[in-house]
Amino acid sequence: MTTPLIQISGLEKAFSTDESWLNQWRLQQGKIKRRKDNVHALNGVNLTINQGETLCVVGETGCGKSTLARVIMGLTPPSAGEIYYLDQRIDQLNDKERMFFRRRMQMVFQNPYASLNPRMTVYQTLSEPIAFHNPQLSRYEIDEQIEVLLESVGISATSSDHYPHEFSGGQRQRISLARALSVEPDFIVADEPLSALDVSVQAQVLNLMMDKQEERNLSYLFITHDLAVVEHFATRVAVMYLGRVCELASTTTLFDYPKHPYTQALLSAIPRLDSNTAQPIRLIGEVPTPIEKPIGCVFQARCPYANQRCYESSPKMILQSDASSVACHAVEEGRL
Ligand SMILES: Nc1ncnc2c1ncn2[C@@H]1O[C@H](COP(=O)(O)OP(=O)(O)O)[C@@H](O)[C@H]1O
Ligand code: SF4
Ligand SMILES: [Mg+2]
Repeated sequence: MTTPLIQISGLEKAFSTDESWLNQWRLQQGKIKRRKDNVHALNGVNLTINQGETLCVVGETGCGKSTLARVIMGLTPPSAGEIYYLDQRIDQLNDKERMFFRRRMQMVFQNPYASLNPRMTVYQTLSEPIAFHNPQLSRYEIDEQIEVLLESVGISATSSDHYPHEFSGGQRQRISLARALSVEPDFIVADEPLSALDVSVQAQVLNLMMDKQEERNLSYLFITHDLAVVEHFATRVAVMYLGRVCELASTTTLFDYPKHPYTQALLSAIPRLDSNTAQPIRLIGEVPTPIEKPIGCVFQARCPYANQRCYESSPKMILQSDASSVACHAVEEGRL
C-alpha cells in the first residue's frame, strides 16, 4: 500500500464572528458576561487522499467544504489538527518552507471570472508561475511551454496576448486549469470549478480534468454539489455535514449502499431509473449555523432516526464490512 499523498487528522477550524464590542455582552445566570461566538466550520475532519485518485467532497452550502479546501492549501491556518503531504507535516509551515508545496499543490476556484487577474494577458498569467518556479528556463523555453500548455487545454496559443474578458467562462476555467498545471503539481484542489459554467461547457472542462489526471497521475480533491458529476468522476466520496465527515466510501459503494441518513437523503433526491425507492426523503429544517460546538450528532435536528444517544454523544466514524466508514449511532446499532 503506497503512502497517501495527503493525510488530514483531527482538523478543526473556528472563525470568530466579528460582532461589535457591544453585541458581545450577554446576560448569563443573572450576570452580564462577555462572550465572543465562534463559527466552527470544521469539527475534527479525518481524510486521506491517495495518489492518482479523485476524492469528491459533497454537502450543502455552509458545511465547511471551502474551508477544508483553504486550510489544506495553507490559505488559512487550522485551529487544530494535522495535515501531511506524504510524510511531511505541512500545516505549520512559514511562507518560505511552504514554497516547495505551493508548486506541488494547486487550486482551481469556483469563479473563473474572479480568479484570473483581469489586467494580465493569458501569457502573463501563465509565464509568471512558470518563471517563478523554474528560474533556469530561458524566455524561449517558457514561451514553448506556454504554447504546449495552452494547446493541451484547447486554447489557441495565438490568443495568448488576450485578456480574460475576451474569453468565455469555459475558456477561462480552462486557462485557470492551465495555470494550475503550469507548475506540474501532483495535487489539485478544485472548489466547485464547474458551477459557474453552462451545462454544455461543464462536461468539456470535466473531461479535460480527467484527461490531465490520466496523463499526469494527478490527485484531486474535488468539491461539488452535483451528484451526477460525483458518480462520473470520483474514486471516493466524502459526505460532509456541519463541519464533519459523516460518510466516506468508494463511489460505487456510496451510490449503491448509502448508509448515513444524510447521505440517503442527498442521494434520494436524484431521480434514478433503477431506483426502488419511489419517494425522495425530504430533509426537514434548515442547516443550522455552527456557532456552538455541537453536542451529540450534528444531524440530530433533521434526522428521522435520532434517539436519546444521538443528543448526548457524537457518533465516531466506524469502518463497515464494505470498507466504507459511517458516523451514525443507528447504523452502528443495526437499527438502520
Ligand atoms: N472567513 C470566515 N469568517 C467567518 N465565518 C466563515 C468564514 N468562512 C466561512 N465561514 C463560515 O464557516 C461555515 C462553512 O463555510 P464554507 O466552508 O464556505 O462552506 P461551504 O463551502 O461548504 O459552503 C459557514 O457557516 C460559513 O459562514
Ligand atoms: S447518529 Fe443519530 S441523529 Fe445522527 S444520523 Fe445517526 S441516527 Fe441520525
Ligand atoms: Mg464553498
